[in-house]
Amino acid sequence: TGATRELLLSRIRDVPDYPKPGVMFKDITPLLADPAAFTALTETLAELCVRQGATKVVGLEARGFILAAPVAVRAGVGFIPVRKAGKLPGATLSQAYELEYGTAEIEVHAEDLGADDRVMVIDDVLATGGTAQASLELIRRAGAEVAGVAILMELAFLGGRARLEPALRGAPLESLITV
Ligand code: PRP
Ligand code: MG
Repeated sequence: TGATRELLLSRIRDVPDYPKPGVMFKDITPLLADPAAFTALTETLAELCVRQGATKVVGLEARGFILAAPVAVRAGVGFIPVRKAGKLPGATLSQAYELEYGTAEIEVHAEDLGADDRVMVIDDVLATGGTAQASLELIRRAGAEVAGVAILMELAFLGGRARLEPALRGAPLESLITV
């Protein structure tokens, strides 16, 4: 609802010139510290998971973990971590993606996702869309279906939605707040 959106927005702090000059950092720690706001966020995202028939929730390291874990519990489905390369001990699938400067790589345990799964990806911010796009590649390569992508805050001026669009293949991209 609009009231939930207002509550969430009021608990996100703008930090100018972080981590470098010219960047406005969106700090979600005030939201996490407010139980009413964190609960409203968790319940809103869990409803999306249930509505899309998700069987698993993927959280994107690191901030996505904080949001996705309680959502998975609330929705009654499993939580699967997508981690930065080198952190998962088992057999993994890896996906590289472009950053502003250079490349990054994320991984998932191959055994965590399979043909019976419909996966909802959860993260805090959609910026260029590179991280989310790479996570969709991992999910598909694991043989699972994408239920959707749910993001707390979309930075529309960075064009992430357009970049993500082909990889969604019709699955919804839901952002609770767009700035
Ligand atoms: C941030 C943010 C998103 C991602 C969005 O993560 O939490 O995961 O960037 O950017 P993109 O749409 O351009 O890919 P980051 O890896 O910077 O830090 P974190 O480990 O604190 O989540
Ligand atoms: Mg992140």
